[in-house]
Amino acid sequence: MMATLFRNARITTPIGGDAPLAGSDQGRVATYEKGALLCENGLIAAIGDEKDILIKAEEMDVDMEVDCEGTCMIPGFVDPHTHICFAKRRENEFSMRLAGTPYLEILKAGGGILSSVRSVHEATEDELFETTLDNVLSALNFGTTTLEIKSGYGLTTESELKMLSVIGRIARETPLDIAPTFMGAHAVPTEYKGNPDKFVDIMVEEMLPAVKEQGIAKYCDVFCEEGVFTVDQSRRILEKARDLGFLLRIHADEVHDTGGAGLAAELGTVSAEHLLAANEKNLRSMAVNGVIADVLPATAYSLKKPYAPVRKMIDLGVPVALATDCNPGSCFTESIPFVFGLGVMNMDMTVEEALVATTLNPAWSLGLQDKVGSLEVGKQADFLLLDGESPAILAYHAGVSPVVEVYKKGVQVA
Ligand code: NIG
Ligand code: FE
Repeated sequence: MMATLFRNARITTPIGGDAPLAGSDQGRVATYEKGALLCENGLIAAIGDEKDILIKAEEMDVDMEVDCEGTCMIPGFVDPHTHICFAKRRENEFSMRLAGTPYLEILKAGGGILSSVRSVHEATEDELFETTLDNVLSALNFGTTTLEIKSGYGLTTESELKMLSVIGRIARETPLDIAPTFMGAHAVPTEYKGNPDKFVDIMVEEMLPAVKEQGIAKYCDVFCEEGVFTVDQSRRILEKARDLGFLLRIHADEVHDTGGAGLAAELGTVSAEHLLAANEKNLRSMAVNGVIADVLPATAYSLKKPYAPVRKMIDLGVPVALATDCNPGSCFTESIPFVFGLGVMNMDMTVEEALVATTLNPAWSLGLQDKVGSLEVGKQADFLLLDGESPAILAYHAGVSPVVEVYKKGVQVA
């Protein structure tokens, strides 16, 4: 038994329930002005006002006491949508986009995702691991303690499995909790440009079963978008994935409203991602079917697109999570503090709503809500100390990270 008492912290945490927080509960948090957290064997044994926790601590053998000096404590961030496993940056494309070439045009011309596919093909597994590790440790420094990572720069069975193997190694060799997602349907490979249905056949008949057999992905995701995968092709892939036992996610209505949010509602996917162009009817169906909106404001920032209609989502009762989308093309950031700031300043979320959207709701989106996402008894002691009086510092101190210390299962990891 190993117990640590963290005292003298201003603690703010979402308060969970039996579903992701939505509507007027989207910002449901508790604050302990002078709080303490008692951690035993990596889990939270007690949390609350310091005076109450000190009494509990006396009943236990506390090995170590940490004075948090009045700093703000919040749960570790949960980032539910990344493509952080890649081999090379694409700075040249960023310049092209700044000069006016649209993101999907670059893909159509064989660049974009397809350029990352080439560099992943060329990289050895060790090389891919090293670049991914750098990115993941950067995310950890920004306070991300739980992370979803997608494959999708492979697009052949062999290369997709290589990516998922690297993602598995990241899970074993870093302190983070990792949720692995198979996203073989991220783009149509150049060889299948004239016959994308043939690629969908391969996905359904060969790739999905191969990934399933290795048991190295929990989720399956599809890029449902004009010029990428249609709603019908996406449905075919996701239905097969569901039959094989994968949980489902979908990139929906990122650039054009092709009905991806409606498909998410129809299939009851865990989440629908992006939704910049989603229509109100489909958002309503998402609310009815309990689909979480994983909103990626740094992508809107990087693509210079209007932000997703988060206030409308919250009004309609869609649970909202925020994510980085960290990838070398449409959005290169591993910083949840940046995303948090965009949520508050550019999408009119309250600080409390943004806190829930970067901790507890994304934990639900990854099926990890019993372990992470809030500071409640029985969960992992995954928390951050911020250089500020309240979580508002994440929006107020713009362009820097106020995350000064990162703890995973009660141990300082950054
Ligand atoms: O979520 N939209 C598809 N996938 C990523 C972009 C990946 C890339 O450009 O490399 C996204 O924006
Ligand atoms: Fe994405």
